[in-house]
Amino acid sequence: MRLAVNIDHFATLREARKSNEPEPVLAALLAEQAGAEGIVCHIRSDRRHIKERDLMLLRQSIKTKLIVEMAATKEMEEIALEIKPDIVSLVPEKPEELTTEGGLDIIANKDYLLSHIKSLQEAGIKVSIFVDPNTDQIEACKQLNCNMIEINTGLYADLSPGKEQQKALDAVINAAKFGFESGLKIHAGHGLDYKNIHPIAAIPEIEEFSIGFSIVARAAIAGIEIAVRDMLALIE
Ligand code: PXP
Repeated sequence: MRLAVNIDHFATLREARKSNEPEPVLAALLAEQAGAEGIVCHIRSDRRHIKERDLMLLRQSIKTKLIVEMAATKEMEEIALEIKPDIVSLVPEKPEELTTEGGLDIIANKDYLLSHIKSLQEAGIKVSIFVDPNTDQIEACKQLNCNMIEINTGLYADLSPGKEQQKALDAVINAAKFGFESGLKIHAGHGLDYKNIHPIAAIPEIEEFSIGFSIVARAAIAGIEIAVRDMLALIE
């Protein structure tokens, strides 16, 4: 099982001040040093965090693999063909959302997605589809010849422990098994954190986890003491 680290929120912090720090690329290199086997980022149409400049620098710097989440639009296709990430992860996108809400509706967008995926793959880019734990949607992913799917763990992660969360977990377990048995590589992510990862990490069909927010949040807390000591040393 592998961990791919999403570094979007280093860029969110940078954009809070329109500054040049923290540098997301530096975070990516340190994440790789710590054992991450992939670096993920999401270029949104409003460029609220990751920008073209970040994609270019990441492409030149990281040594594992670059996974870029993007909407299935013409604009994003052009960016992908220029940057050539190792993997494009197709996600739905709404301008007003704080983070990705739900998986892509593959059934409703099949014809368009088929040609979009084909043109990315012809350029040597692997394509992943972010999908809800729903077997009909996963069956449709298979028909699109994508290279892998990422099962959305967001519903499971948003619920508190109890019956409803168990139901959401069972849906992820069934979806992983169904996708794997259909011949798809299985990734999973969204909302995973230090408290809820255990039952998801126990699902044998999942090869890779994509985790961002909880890791960036912990990095900020884990680093505060050293940051304060460094500043005090300069003041004194
Ligand atoms: N997978 C996808 C498709 C996402 O859009 C995101 C959020 O950018 C993640 C995984 C990571 O989610 P989180 O930041 O909650 O760990």
